[in-house]
Amino acid sequence: MTIELKVPDIGGFSDVAVIEVAVKVGDTINPDDTLITLETDKATMDVPATAGGVVKAVNVKVGDKISEGSVIVVVEAAGQAAPSPVAAPAPAPAPAPAPAPAPSVAAPAAESSVIEIRVPDIGGFNGVDVIDVAIKAGDTIKVDDTLITLETDKATMDVPSTTAGTIKSVAVKVGDKVSQGDLVITLATTSSPATTATQATTPAPAPQPVAAPSPAKAAAAPAPVATAPSTGKVDETGFKAAFASPSVRKFARELGADLGRVKGSGPKGRILQEDVKTFVKGVLTSSAAHAPAAGGSGVGLDLLPWPKVDFAKFGPIENKPLSRIKKLSGANLARNWVMIPHVTQFDEADITEMEAFRKQMGDELKKQDVKLTPLAFLIKAVVAALKKYPEFNASLDGDNLVLKQYFHIGFAADTPNGLVVPVIKDADKKSLIQLAQESSALAAKARDGKLLPTDMQGGCFSISSLGGVGGTAFTPIVNAPEVAILGVSKSAIKPVWNGSEFAPRLMLPLSLSYDHRVIDGASAARFTTYLGQVLGDIRRLML
Ligand code: COA
Repeated sequence: MTIELKVPDIGGFSDVAVIEVAVKVGDTINPDDTLITLETDKATMDVPATAGGVVKAVNVKVGDKISEGSVIVVVEAAGQAAPSPVAAPAPAPAPAPAPAPAPSVAAPAAESSVIEIRVPDIGGFNGVDVIDVAIKAGDTIKVDDTLITLETDKATMDVPSTTAGTIKSVAVKVGDKVSQGDLVITLATTSSPATTATQATTPAPAPQPVAAPSPAKAAAAPAPVATAPSTGKVDETGFKAAFASPSVRKFARELGADLGRVKGSGPKGRILQEDVKTFVKGVLTSSAAHAPAAGGSGVGLDLLPWPKVDFAKFGPIENKPLSRIKKLSGANLARNWVMIPHVTQFDEADITEMEAFRKQMGDELKKQDVKLTPLAFLIKAVVAALKKYPEFNASLDGDNLVLKQYFHIGFAADTPNGLVVPVIKDADKKSLIQLAQESSALAAKARDGKLLPTDMQGGCFSISSLGGVGGTAFTPIVNAPEVAILGVSKSAIKPVWNGSEFAPRLMLPLSLSYDHRVIDGASAARFTTYLGQVLGDIRRLML
């Protein structure tokens, strides 16, 4: 049967911007798969499917503005039972996207001018993480000020105050898990007792959009750093795309910080208030250190500010915003490059016999529609090397090395939107053919932009193969929290001395980058030597 999945109750918002469409015609979706991502100025929220099936039509695109009841997709439902056709509100099994909630004001406390503000209806979620507490006892707050920020795996949302006053006590802290009705703060109100009493006895309102200062308004407010060195011009596209809660966005606006340039240290790279502070401090320190009057500090890392050039002065230009993937991977790569002391060990493996075998098998396997590329052999060889040298199958956790007893191997895949690293789970338990099938399925999924977060999690070690493209060597960046990555370049026939003469051999260049805090140079040389032995004689893989 064909059913329409519609936008559920999103807390009274209408004309909400679609910032991402996660499905396309022909996709097979399961209940709870994300269909689209919406963004209000209070929250970004994923709209999950409440029914599975094959997508027959997608009725929205990025940039559209939609409201409750708009049809998102039409699906041909798989199976028997007719599921609820609407991405259902509260009681539906799949979580409805949580709107920016308005706080519920519960029964008055003993003192008539003191009220309790509790967690409002947050779309049926329970035990939601508190990721930010924006206030403390003694603060004076206005209507609409953010009290706390909550995060589910579908959305972050601010809980704003509907009442002005002075905070008497705060009942939650970062890391707590809260549900509807839990106490957030007690507040000595600044309104008249009569008003307070009415508010205090009003039952919890349904989720309401709470007017947040519009970005333009917030930006126009006098910036506290107006006289300090500028944090740079704000790139609106980057700012919008940044992964941050509304309170952090507001904070960044107030400081004039370009959120698109801030590196997030929160879960999944989310930008926290601390990150904005660090960014602003960095800009100020860097600018101060290079102010003509101040001169260089001469202490520590004295980075030059990023050059600001009006390129259009020198010729025609076109601005192209970085893709979401590029921004995410860029932030990760920059952190890994700066924080990990990298060394790269270069080596070559003689794959003459391996290639002869691969070609021979390749012809046979083609009939079964399996493409056996060198990647499957590399994964096998890497697993063997990780078993022999377990410190390569590890992650640093403070002063502790976590040694993994499973073998999940990631491989860098080049996609039109940027670099992603899908992970083959339990590669030690899979045959060459299974590895070839799985890597090519994951690479296709990556190119179609259909990888799920779980497809990219849990990696122990990564392989970056540029062999199909070209080059003789490169220095890959370790994919933290892993401790090593194998770069592979294009194989070439070279003259190799066999003890009596030069023989033409097919040599595969290997570039192993590693975290020198965990791995010594000698271990790295042993690791690539062993890889060379295994790839040189794949019978060793059977040992
Ligand atoms: N030397 C010579 N040829 C090689 C090779 C190597 N090391 N590795 C692969 N090839 C050949 C393959 O055999 C294939 O040839 P064929 O079509 O004649 O059989 C061709 O190159 C293309 O292979 P490819 O489709 O790339 O498959 P793969 O399994 O080797 O790689 C991916 C799959 C996903 C890893 C690859 O497509 C990719 O995205 N690589 C880029 C990774 C990247 O960007 N890394 C940079 C990170 S810094």
